[in-house]
Amino acid sequence: MANNVLEVKGLSSWFATENGDVKVIDDVSFSIAEGEIFGLVGESGSGKSVTSRSIIRLLPEDGSTAYEGSILVEGTDVLRISESRMRAMRGNEIAMVFQDPMSALNPVYTIGDQIMESILTHRRVGKAQARKLTIETLDAVGYPSPEQALSKYPHQLSGGMRQRVVIAIAVACRPKLLIADEPTTALDVTTQKQIVDLILDLSQRFGMAVLFISHDLNLVADISNRVAVMYHGRIVEQGTVESIFDHPQRAYTKGLISCIPPLHRAVPEELATVPANLDEFGDLGPAKEGR
Ligand SMILES: Nc1ncnc2c1ncn2[C@@H]1O[C@H](COP(=O)(O)OP(=O)(O)OP(=O)(O)O)[C@@H](O)[C@H]1O
Ligand SMILES: [Mg+2]
Repeated sequence: MANNVLEVKGLSSWFATENGDVKVIDDVSFSIAEGEIFGLVGESGSGKSVTSRSIIRLLPEDGSTAYEGSILVEGTDVLRISESRMRAMRGNEIAMVFQDPMSALNPVYTIGDQIMESILTHRRVGKAQARKLTIETLDAVGYPSPEQALSKYPHQLSGGMRQRVVIAIAVACRPKLLIADEPTTALDVTTQKQIVDLILDLSQRFGMAVLFISHDLNLVADISNRVAVMYHGRIVEQGTVESIFDHPQRAYTKGLISCIPPLHRAVPEELATVPANLDEFGDLGPAKEGR
């Protein structure tokens, strides 16, 4: 597709461990188009974060990580560019929002300084213009009275407001691709909804492609156009939200969906679970193997 912002093709990743090389991502392929929200779901340890960190190259580059395949961001294979080129892309073409907003913000700098830093790093603008763009960005993420926010420190904000600031830093340079790795897990349900709506709005307004990672299936169904289900380092199934949720093909996807507690019926005494035994999903084959 011509307007694909991200194309991940046959991505495998290995980590060197004391027990030898371990393949944690196995032949993963997916793409995200301009303005599209792509949900990546899967249980803890299935490889969602390693996939997202591979895209922005935030995994150790000390020789302990190895890759196969390609990750094209607007046609550039990020696995094959220099670190300085990658640094220029991070926060500019590709931005990331993490789970915990407090650890994503620097406690000793004001909100204004942290957003402005991103703009001054990637844009050829002076301080006055950067300040103006910062106010515009805070306004775009729905921050009330953005001018007053400039001089605030992270500890003076609520969790939801902090996450808005983290999103403001991420979108300050209008990235083509936003990676949101469990962006709402640390927030209460109401704030969660506001942040999800904000990501949806920004994606539509700026035509941003979004990789939205979560283990909350309902949330992903709500926000995404397409979804991929990850298990044990592999994508077991991907498609439109309707096809995955209404007509899952793979045993694992069916298992995951059956674990969602029913909203409009009485909750059964015993909730469904997905068995941990890999053999139950024999159609997957072994996913972790040495290099
Ligand atoms: N630096 C590393 N070295 C070795 N193994 C790693 C490293 N980082 C991640 N892993 C392993 O890769 C696998 C996938 O981890 P990942 O963090 O991607 O899971 P996840 O799907 O994001 O889970 P969660 O929902 O808990 O965030 C796990 O088995 C993890 O232990
Ligand atoms: Mg993770």
